[in-house]
Amino acid sequence: MRIFVAGGAGYVGSHTVKALVAAGHEVTVFDSLVAGHRDAVDPAAAFIRGDLADGRALADVLKQGRFDGVIHFAAFLNVGESVEKPLMYYRNNVTNTLNLLEAMEAADVRRIVFSSTCAVYGEPDRLPITEDLPKAPINPYGATKLAVEGMLRDSAGAWGLAAVALRYFNAAGAAADGSIGEDHSPELHLIPLVLQVALGQRENIKIFGTDYPTPDGTCIRDYIHVDDLASAHVRAIEGAKPGELEAFNVGTGRGNSVREIIEACRSVTGHAIPAIEQARRPGDPPSLYADASKIKARFGWSARYVDVRETIESAWRWHSAHPAGYAN
Ligand code: UFG
Repeated sequence: MRIFVAGGAGYVGSHTVKALVAAGHEVTVFDSLVAGHRDAVDPAAAFIRGDLADGRALADVLKQGRFDGVIHFAAFLNVGESVEKPLMYYRNNVTNTLNLLEAMEAADVRRIVFSSTCAVYGEPDRLPITEDLPKAPINPYGATKLAVEGMLRDSAGAWGLAAVALRYFNAAGAAADGSIGEDHSPELHLIPLVLQVALGQRENIKIFGTDYPTPDGTCIRDYIHVDDLASAHVRAIEGAKPGELEAFNVGTGRGNSVREIIEACRSVTGHAIPAIEQARRPGDPPSLYADASKIKARFGWSARYVDVRETIESAWRWHSAHPAGYAN
């Protein structure tokens, strides 16, 4: 297939592009490089620097490209920032997706896979999380992702779009061959922050809250390897069917606490990694992990990395070889 990847120079996007190329697809990456990295893009993919905000340029690219499908990663993803600047999030994540869908309809491209998030569930009252639980995001970031799911659902019904939303849990790890990995600026995610302590780039890791109703008092998350996320996108774009939005959780089905992650990082890196206990970070649900049986039944996908230690090992290979990320 000829596939247009918006945000293909980002973390999950770049790993997915690599997987698409390996599966024999012809890939064009469209990325503003505001957060993405040119060096993260597989050399076999075409690259266009552009912004989804520019609806006219986008429409031209889609018309000329004769694409079979789109995978859409381009979005802001910082929950705290979304609380402070909600309209910036709605404009970037929702309005720009509207441009993309309008350009797709005009160019007759009727297949899309969208990166959604477990943040659409807010604070679920049941675990593991199944797709039918109430969608009740507790921050603007999650609300923007849910709004896009709505646009996809309505488009699927109205103009025959084949649409899949993949609701990721916590993306983690790096490509098995060490070629690409995670490089956010600022970095706010737990595993890379802990590994930066191991590298001597930070003095300690702060544990946000030790009084949660979990076995060790710290938050539990489902850390899904980025290469597993990538393979889920490949299956979804190949198998999407027209007429309705299908939404799937993409996680391992296992939860790990913040303390468990720090301990696993100590063991993988051999560094002491001092930790400091702090108050809760506002807006963090105590526990989130996936029931991923729906995507297994539909696409035959399941996570290959189920032991978080292996995910951390892959991240450590990347961070220790690229301590300044793509600047190396
Ligand atoms: N944490 C710390 N110290 C840190 C950073 C994080 O204790 O320095 C904790 C957090 O409180 C949380 C866990 O580590 O309990 C994971 O935090 P991340 O920031 O790595 O990830 P989140 O679970 O907050 O966020 C992820 C995605 C978001 C998505 C969200 C859905 O990064 O895009 O899941 O809940 F919205």
